[in-house]
Amino acid sequence: MDTKDLLNMFPEKNSIPAEYQLQPIYQKEYLINGVIHVWTGNTREVYSPICVRNKDFVEPVLIGSYPLLNEKEVLEGLDAAVGAYDTGRGQWPTMSVEQRIQCMKSFNLRMREKRKEIVTLLMWEICKTLTDAEKEFDRTVEYIDATINSLKDLDRVSSRFVFELGIFAQIRRAPLGVVLCMGPFNYPLNETFTTMIPALIMGNTILFKPAKYGALFFRPLLEAFRDCFPRGVVNTIYGEGRTIIGPLISSGKIDVLALIGSAGAANAIQKQHPKPNRLKCVLGLGAKNPAIILEDADLELSVKECLLGTLSFNGQRCTALKILFVHKKVAQNFLDKFSEAVSLLKIGMPWKNGVTITPLPEKNKTLLMKEYIDDAIAHGAQILNRGGGVMNSTLFIPAVLSPVNESMKIYREEQFGPIVPIVPFDSIDLPIEYIRSSDVGQQASIFGTNPEEIARLIDPLVNQLCRVNINSQCQRGPDSFPFTGRKDSAEGTLSVSDALRVFSIRTLVAAKETDLNKMIVGEIIKERTSNFLSTDFIL
Ligand code: G3H
Repeated sequence: MDTKDLLNMFPEKNSIPAEYQLQPIYQKEYLINGVIHVWTGNTREVYSPICVRNKDFVEPVLIGSYPLLNEKEVLEGLDAAVGAYDTGRGQWPTMSVEQRIQCMKSFNLRMREKRKEIVTLLMWEICKTLTDAEKEFDRTVEYIDATINSLKDLDRVSSRFVFELGIFAQIRRAPLGVVLCMGPFNYPLNETFTTMIPALIMGNTILFKPAKYGALFFRPLLEAFRDCFPRGVVNTIYGEGRTIIGPLISSGKIDVLALIGSAGAANAIQKQHPKPNRLKCVLGLGAKNPAIILEDADLELSVKECLLGTLSFNGQRCTALKILFVHKKVAQNFLDKFSEAVSLLKIGMPWKNGVTITPLPEKNKTLLMKEYIDDAIAHGAQILNRGGGVMNSTLFIPAVLSPVNESMKIYREEQFGPIVPIVPFDSIDLPIEYIRSSDVGQQASIFGTNPEEIARLIDPLVNQLCRVNINSQCQRGPDSFPFTGRKDSAEGTLSVSDALRVFSIRTLVAAKETDLNKMIVGEIIKERTSNFLSTDFIL
């Protein structure tokens, strides 16, 4: 496999299947304060990582553009969100949980109608395979349903009074204020919505900024956001992060930052808040999840899981396995089998059946991958798989690198792409020390068959990371499981139920058990004059 073969993986213009062709979207619209405004200023052109082939060269395809708002419009968006929240007195934060659920249900119905459009855009914007783009869409609408059900459970528990030491109280979860949501390019729909949906349904108001890659596919949802929620509750801000995020945060009016991205970006944003203690952060950041393949591991199974773990969506998952430690006694056998499996991965355009490796959306990503490889080779590693590291434009053949050691950049840095660094080890102390001394701490995978040995590893690892996977790749799902990390990997825990908690705060109405207080509270409940103080039970 050489660069010429890769060139031929790109389609000619007229060979793109009709059902996956895309009409460019030159988006001018943005939603602020319940109005879809038309932008006349600067826009950013969006080029797909999918290129078209024209004889001996390839050209990127222009698939649209989106507004680059200025500070003025973004601050109008902020005013809209602040106004809709109205220090907690707005229509949305004071609405009953049941009414908010109705709004969310109607949004989810409207969103389902856009499946085909959104899936096609996900393929063109970030090159997620058709199957994975469909999975991302379906997982997200299911997440919305699960969030609604989880909120019902939470509300049912809160619909009763607690009596303690002569005081009775109703304890509920109340919203926090204005939430700025920013998602990553690799799960631009799912990971934006897994913060935005719980934040919304708990009564917060939202400003959301799409990722740099993966922005156009929100366009089909603007009308649904406008129609399903009161004005000002959802506001979309498009623009250059560096220009628009600073003014928002330094205004001091953002109460929660929900960011899935890099620790560098999170730190730079957090610092700009004038009262940092008031800014609650819900962050999903970097990770360098290791797999440890023990000498008694089932190698077929380890290869299968490590292949999924390292190279699904070209390794562009925060949960991806980003370094493999393999016991020296089985290293050669594992390397042979793993390299062979990597060589068999299908490379191509995202709509092709069975394809795994697709073009990379980030600018200059293939060059960055090459730099990691050159550095590793200069320090003694080799590429083990056929064609590993060969590239053409946005396509890059995954490279299996071994033996990797601490002198190489790839040992510690998060490659977030199709390179698999492998470290053969003699002593289990090496991977344990690697995890202990790492700046990140999300997950790890252990492959082995001896329960005692695995147990001995679990205990030192669970206090370094937040999930240890046995004979399984690292992953976020199922979405009911807690998803978080230690050190620089995360702040706050997400899952269907945890996210509802993270975007709200326990708040209570309490009174001493006197006849007067019982009469007042009883009357409020009977007359249904408060949405908070209520024993209504959502069925
Ligand atoms: O990019 C990080 C995602 O949260 C990973 O999710 O493990 O379901 O692919 P996943």
